[in-house]
Amino acid sequence: MTARKSKQRGATPRFGGDWTTCKLNVLGGYLRSYTTALRDKPTATKPFRKAYIDAFAGTGYRDERSDESRVFSPENLLLPDLAGPEPASLLDGSARIALQTEPGFDKYIFIERSPGRCAGLAGLKDEFSLLADAIDIREGDANDHIREICAKDWSAHRAVLFLDPYGMQVEWTTIEAIAKTEAIDLWLLFPLGIGVNRMLTRSGDIPESWRRRLDLLLGTQTWYDEFYAVEHTQTLFGDSDRVVKATMATIGRYFNNRLGQIFSGVAKEPGVLRNSANNPLYLLCFAAGNERGSEIGLRIANHLLKEMR
Ligand SMILES: C[S@@+](CC[C@H](N)C(=O)[O-])C[C@H]1O[C@@H](n2cnc3c(N)ncnc32)[C@H](O)[C@@H]1O
Repeated sequence: MTARKSKQRGATPRFGGDWTTCKLNVLGGYLRSYTTALRDKPTATKPFRKAYIDAFAGTGYRDERSDESRVFSPENLLLPDLAGPEPASLLDGSARIALQTEPGFDKYIFIERSPGRCAGLAGLKDEFSLLADAIDIREGDANDHIREICAKDWSAHRAVLFLDPYGMQVEWTTIEAIAKTEAIDLWLLFPLGIGVNRMLTRSGDIPESWRRRLDLLLGTQTWYDEFYAVEHTQTLFGDSDRVVKATMATIGRYFNNRLGQIFSGVAKEPGVLRNSANNPLYLLCFAAGNERGSEIGLRIANHLLKEMR
């Protein structure tokens, strides 16, 4: 199929930089290996129906430019749509990368909250006309749609699910629902530097709305004790207490360990996506859903993550 570059309907988000290329290269590499591995399964075994699920799908195109300071204000982390529409780019985003993957998937589910971006996704049905019937676009909140999709019978299905939010939109209960299917391999951008680390203030005083968002993302209220310690020192002038905040490495390890508790396996060294000033923005985490497939899934994911280091 030829990937004709046409002007899409709906605006393309301004969101990019080298780390965008990195995450999409890893995703594209995994999708190719995944569909190849499932195609090459022994013919005696009944084939699974394979889906690609993109829960923050965008328009199908991406923008190369990066401007983290504008996109990632604390308000945008909580109200991501403030990131706003931006001029179109002709570089492939995750949805188009999935549609170009060979061998293909049986179904492509694109979830997107913005109606304008859904219109852009609908344009992909014309462009990839042979796959039009396999493309299912769902407008609305990613958490709601994923929980509904995961509640179905997954025994004859397998999927790769990509969670690529701008900020703090993913909820832990959604991740739990994905793990429970035991059929879905998950690639997830964990908003380490742009979200979690910014909300964990140095003083330890955290606004209530930020606490609630951290509770939802991390799925527990015990994170405070994990991320803050009180250092007690005795000096010549008396005792003093100092709040010490966890490093980003500790925060990332904590989240990856939590993923490891509910999935068959996780990549032990998630990718670190950094901005142009070399500051970590996201962790690119991988979790394998099915126990029997986890060894090969992890081998492929670890290889791809190593290549991006
Ligand atoms: C980082 S962009 C996705 C980029 C896309 N994966 C790509 O490679 O082209 C995040 C997208 O998620 C959408 N979004 C934000 N909050 C959402 C939510 N709660 N549910 C679904 N989509 C959401 C935004 O409109 C935006 O298009």
